[in-house]
Amino acid sequence: MQIGTTVNQFLIEEQRRLGGTDNDLPALVNDVVVACKSLSHAISQGALAGMLGSAGVENVQGETQKKLDIISNDIMIAATERGGYLGAMASEEMDEIYPIPAQYPKGKYLLLFDPLDGSSNIDVNISVGTIFSILRCPAGVTNPTAKDFMQPGTQQVCAGYALYGPSTLLVLTTGHGVNCFTLDKSIGEFVLTQANLRVPVDTREFAINSSNSRFWEKPVKRYIDECLAGKDGPRKENFNMRWVASMVAEVHRILNRGGIFMYPRDTKDPTKAGRLRLMYEANPMSFIIEQAGGVCSTGRERIMGVQPTELHQRIAVILGSKNEVDRVVAYHTEG
Ligand code: F6P
Ligand code: MN
Repeated sequence: MQIGTTVNQFLIEEQRRLGGTDNDLPALVNDVVVACKSLSHAISQGALAGMLGSAGVENVQGETQKKLDIISNDIMIAATERGGYLGAMASEEMDEIYPIPAQYPKGKYLLLFDPLDGSSNIDVNISVGTIFSILRCPAGVTNPTAKDFMQPGTQQVCAGYALYGPSTLLVLTTGHGVNCFTLDKSIGEFVLTQANLRVPVDTREFAINSSNSRFWEKPVKRYIDECLAGKDGPRKENFNMRWVASMVAEVHRILNRGGIFMYPRDTKDPTKAGRLRLMYEANPMSFIIEQAGGVCSTGRERIMGVQPTELHQRIAVILGSKNEVDRVVAYHTEG
C-alpha cells in the first residue's frame, strides 16, 4: 500500500484485497479514528483549555480519574455510539458495559477501550495514548451483556492504539500485519507512514518498573538480574533500560526498535493477577505485537489464549522481541 494513503482508504482497500464485503468494520474504525483526532486536539490544548488535573473521583479500578480520563471516555462514546456498527461498548473508565442507546441502530461489533492510557503522565506533558479492541457480537445476540464480551484475544477482529506524542500516530491491525499512520494536521487525516511493521527478534533493551523488584517472582528476578549483570554476567552483553510508564509509548518503541516490556504478576497485592487489564490493554497490544512477529505471554501462557472471566480483569504481561520473551517464559517453566 502506498505511503500517504489515508487510514480510511487503507481499510477499504484492505477489505477489497481480502475479498471482504463488510464495510461496517472500516466505518467503525473510522468512528474510532475521529475520536482519536478529537482527543489529540483536546490533549494538546492541555492547561490552555483547563484540561489538566484530577476530576476528584475514582474509577472501578480504584484509580483517581483525571479530567482528561472522563473527557476522553465521553469523546469515544459520542464518536462511536450512533454509527449503527456496535451492540455495546466497554471502557476502563466505566464500571459496567455501555449498551447502545435505544435511539440508535445496533450493529454486530463490540468495542473495548482504554480512552487515555498512561494518564498519570498527562499533567507532566509526557506521551499518553488510546487503546482499543474490536470483537464480534456473538451470533443472534442483539442486546449484548458483559458475558458476550468474555471472548479470548484470539477472537479480536481489529486492535489499535493512538499515541499522542511529538506526532499523533495511529497503529492498527485487522489480523493482516501492522501499519502505522501519522496525523497530518494540515488535512486532518491519518496517513500511512510505516507499512508492515516488524518487531526485531533480538533486543538488548528491557522495560519494567523496578521499584516493584522486591515483589517479583523468581523467573522475572532472574531475568532482570542477568540483564543488569551485563557483559560480566551469564548473558555476556550489556542491556539498556527504559520506562515511560505509558504502555502505548512502550509498545510503540518496541514495535520500532525491539525490546521487552514486562508488568509481571508479583506479590505486592495477591488479589491482583497483574497491573494491566486483559481486555482493553493486554489483548489489543498482544494482537498488534503478535501480528508484527513479537510474542506476548503471562509467563505461563499466551495472553490471547486466556478466557476472560471479568470485564476489568488484570493480567501479567510480558511482551516484545521473540527471543527475549521466549527466554523469560522458559525461566517460568524451569521454576
Ligand atoms: O494503564 C496502566 C499504565 O498506566 C500503563 O500505561 C503503564 O505501563 C503502567 O500503568 C505504569 O505503571 P507504573 O505506575 O507502575 O509505572
Ligand atoms: Mn491504561
